[in-house]
Amino acid sequence: MRLEGKTAIITGGANGIGLAAGRRFAEEGARVILADFDEQAGREAEEQLKADGLDVRFIRVNVADRESVDRMVEEALNATGRIDVLVNNAGITRDATLMKMTAEQWQQVLDVNLTGVFNCTQAVAAHMTERGSGKIINTSSVSGVYGNFGQTNYAAAKAAVVGMTKTWAKELGRKGINVNAVAPGFTMTAMVAKMPEKVIEQMKGGISLRRLGQPEDIANAYLFLASDESAYVHGHVLQVDGGIMM
Ligand code: NAI
Repeated sequence: MRLEGKTAIITGGANGIGLAAGRRFAEEGARVILADFDEQAGREAEEQLKADGLDVRFIRVNVADRESVDRMVEEALNATGRIDVLVNNAGITRDATLMKMTAEQWQQVLDVNLTGVFNCTQAVAAHMTERGSGKIINTSSVSGVYGNFGQTNYAAAKAAVVGMTKTWAKELGRKGINVNAVAPGFTMTAMVAKMPEKVIEQMKGGISLRRLGQPEDIANAYLFLASDESAYVHGHVLQVDGGIMM
């Protein structure tokens, strides 16, 4: 049990990678808070994992809204008394090429993928600093490292997540808080499933392992960074992408 006795908040935990991580973390002994905007999927996920005997609780949150985040963290602390791990996993896409991207598309993605990460970390780091320990795991993307066609907003936010990860590693390391990021490659969730089959096939051709990632591939990387095994890994961006670019 690699997370025995630990409490983990996973944002965007109702679907996709976040849900897979919720299951993995709970299987390893963690008490898991699935914090998500999607109430229906969140309740279903909670029910499903509880039926498998796992210690999971859903709390609704909009990570882009600071008051909502503060309420979620308070509720989590009331329920569990401590937060050991925060996985900033919630994210959205609103793709369009530079010339076609609307101000709204730009702003929506920055609000969730960038400000959302700041909001959750600031709220949780206050508690972790008091306790002198914690693990913060951010979610970047290969799009944030290499750029991606049609993703000005998303690539900008995900590159900024790398900058914040390294900054927080420098600021929070001395307080006993470990900060790292995972940069997933193309992973088979709703985010990718909405792409045309032809585009998905083309994507596979550019991946050394010749397959898309599964949510569990990313969840296992989160698990490593959440566990004591990664105690001396700090300020690192772990690419989990099947060898998309090297
Ligand atoms: P997904 O769309 O399956 O799940 C995202 C979750 O975030 C959903 O449950 C959604 O309700 C939640 N969410 C969205 N806005 C929210 C908000 N304002 N407040 C709270 N929750 C909110 O996506 P997926 O693929 O599981 O993505 C997880 C993370 O991995 C995201 O940060 C994404 O950008 C990143 N990523 C995904 C890749 C992929 O190919 N699927 C590639 C690289 C990064």
